[in-house]
Amino acid sequence: MQTTAVRYQVRPMDLGDISQVMEIERESFLDMWPTSAFKQDIQHNRLARYLVVVEQREEGEEATAPPAEHEPKGSPMSPPGLGRWLGELKRLFGGEEEAETSREPIVGFVGVWLTPDEAHIVTIAVRESQRGRGIGELLLIAVIALAILNDREVVTLEVRASNQAAQTLYEKYGFRNVGVRPHYYSDNHEDAVIMTTEPIHSAPYQALFQQLRREHHERCGQYELDFN
Ligand SMILES: CC(C)(COP(=O)(O)OP(=O)(O)OC[C@H]1O[C@@H](n2cnc3c(N)ncnc32)[C@H](O)[C@@H]1OP(=O)(O)O)[C@@H](O)C(=O)NCCC(=O)NCCS
Repeated sequence: MQTTAVRYQVRPMDLGDISQVMEIERESFLDMWPTSAFKQDIQHNRLARYLVVVEQREEGEEATAPPAEHEPKGSPMSPPGLGRWLGELKRLFGGEEEAETSREPIVGFVGVWLTPDEAHIVTIAVRESQRGRGIGELLLIAVIALAILNDREVVTLEVRASNQAAQTLYEKYGFRNVGVRPHYYSDNHEDAVIMTTEPIHSAPYQALFQQLRREHHERCGQYELDFN
């Protein structure tokens, strides 16, 4: 029987992704970041890492999908890395629009700053039509895996006091409230809650993280993490 398998890939954001990212940004945040903020961080901020989740649809016979790949890919010339490299070449020499049309749909993104001690999540969002399917969780799994790989101590973030959906997601992954920044958001002067994990290399956190990854995989299926 013909089937369509949906597979997710997490990979670094590049300049050609920004128009899709801005669509998600528009439907997710009141205080939108301008395009220039993403460009600046991607091109010039050595602390910053931005990742996107792309949806890949594979036509095929039933149950022919390969086993899940859960570990980060090492080679920049693996097929997804090669595709992105060719896309960048097209963008540079053939115009940005041409590269855009061949792109797979981006369903979410996350930005993180790797400071010396911590991984600080600066933005995270999922396309509105795709929420509730485990993509936010996949982005968080990717950031925590990236932080572990880069030997950071903890993962931290700020979240609006009223953003219950995001706080519930973070709590699931062991983030705890450690403080408040009063009137942090300039649009409505809302407080920010500061949330942080316990040390991510500790045995209890590793056990929690591995358990959550297993459950996510069972519920949401295959994905690939490519950090290069
Ligand atoms: C927050 C956000 C990223 C979650 O993404 P998502 O793909 O919908 O989340 P998932 O489907 O992966 O959900 C994972 C967990 O998050 C929590 N969660 C997600 N949506 C929730 C909701 N509406 N209410 C309560 N908890 C929710 C649950 O714990 C859920 O786990 P469960 O399915 O076992 O209950 C998404 O709602 C979003 O993009 N919001 C707008 C942008 C934003 O607020 N970003 C956060 C800035 S700090």
